[in-house]
Amino acid sequence: MAISDTLKQYGQLSLIAALEKAAPADKAAIEKQLDAINWAELDRLIKEYVFQKPETAIPDDLTPAPFFPFPANTDELKARYAEAEKVGNELLAQGKVAALIVAGGQGTRLGFDGPKGTYPITPVLKKTLFQYFAESLARAGEKAGKPINWYIMTSELNDKPTRDFFAANNYFGLNPENIMFFTQGMMPAIAYNGQLLLGGKDTLALAPNGHGGTLLALRKSGALDQMKANGVEYISYFQVDNPLVPVVDPLFIGLHHLEGSEISARMLPKTNPYEKLGNFCITGGRLQIIEYSDMPAELAERRKADGTLDFLAGSPAIHVISREFIERLTCDGQLHMPWHRADKKVAYINENGDLVKPDETNAVKLESFIFDALPLAEKTMVLEGCREELFAPTKNATGVDSAESCRAMLVARDARRMELAGIKIPRKADGSPDCIVELSPRSVFDDADAIEFFKNNSVTIAPGEVKAFGK
Ligand code: UTP
Repeated sequence: MAISDTLKQYGQLSLIAALEKAAPADKAAIEKQLDAINWAELDRLIKEYVFQKPETAIPDDLTPAPFFPFPANTDELKARYAEAEKVGNELLAQGKVAALIVAGGQGTRLGFDGPKGTYPITPVLKKTLFQYFAESLARAGEKAGKPINWYIMTSELNDKPTRDFFAANNYFGLNPENIMFFTQGMMPAIAYNGQLLLGGKDTLALAPNGHGGTLLALRKSGALDQMKANGVEYISYFQVDNPLVPVVDPLFIGLHHLEGSEISARMLPKTNPYEKLGNFCITGGRLQIIEYSDMPAELAERRKADGTLDFLAGSPAIHVISREFIERLTCDGQLHMPWHRADKKVAYINENGDLVKPDETNAVKLESFIFDALPLAEKTMVLEGCREELFAPTKNATGVDSAESCRAMLVARDARRMELAGIKIPRKADGSPDCIVELSPRSVFDDADAIEFFKNNSVTIAPGEVKAFGK
């Protein structure tokens, strides 16, 4: 069917009018995008997610998800974790683990011009997020005795600047052969009246399809096949905004393997019932995340006899995923996961050809979320984590979950590691470090590295001192 007939069939009248006025080259570019759309599916999504706000039904049988406590609290668990860590290190040494960073988001809350990974995050040297991860991976690969392949997911909106940034910085010392960029899918933004919008004279207003898009993008890009050919079995998944995350974690990877899990998750004990973390729950015998905004107050606030939150486990979006699981999920070239509606202010070209930047939300973006893969797995595993070692998200410029709070957590973690290595750290009355220290992840990937690095080193840190260490 001609695209104009399709547009008519689905009532996309504004687009028909816009195409009639468009210059031939612009028209051709837009038609190419329109051709790629599955219209029957999009029509369903508009009815389901745009014309109504779908309520997330909270199942009656919802219970808190069980998790492996961390640190281990019994001798049996201690032995299990020791075994898991050993296995994790072996898997890394055998090259069976790849790292995967999702960096396709738009990072609107940070308000930074450019891919989020190019944001300077470290407190002293102002290394970017990408550099920090790259150096961590270089050191982790060195420790494993084998380079760790790194998959970097971008979107069409930031792919080129991301690749250019790596090339301009000589891949931060990594071998480019160990890095693979791939792009995620895009979804058209949909105005509240169901019409698709033009974002420019030759393009629809498109947005990345959410981090759930990773799974299909891995298949479509050939990354899954490449992983298989290279013997990669497990994927260490993390987000671009969290430099505190261990890019590969032998204990987590090893436990995932020993438990025969298909997708595993770290969990953090929530600090309060309404902390903005997804809640790990069980329903119908399956692990599922219920977003904080969907969690009914009576469940969020429910406490056990000892006063701890019943639904304690919050998600910092750190996973190990088995390659075979993703192969199974995407075997028909589709991703069967729900969509999530986000109301956004989407700039668009109006009927006069002018760019309009709305003051109020005017359109819906649809995203899929990686955690919706959890209930699709036959076997899952959740491992508690220590917030101070795992999770410092950089979502906003200031305040909660900001670049500022992230830097403070990096300093606190590095100061703690230095103390572990016998260096005296001046501290303020509230216990926080009275100095700004930064350890290069190229030299210090973990606690053991810190101890080794400062061995025979008589470093002194004066109150208020600002200092970086390592290559
Ligand atoms: P966020 O949910 O924080 O979204 O992404 P965002 O787009 O980066 O930021 P805001 O909401 O516009 O401020 C969490 C992680 O998922 C990645 C992001 O790059 C980040 O690492 N992500 C998000 C993608 O890779 N693709 C997407 O479509 C969305």
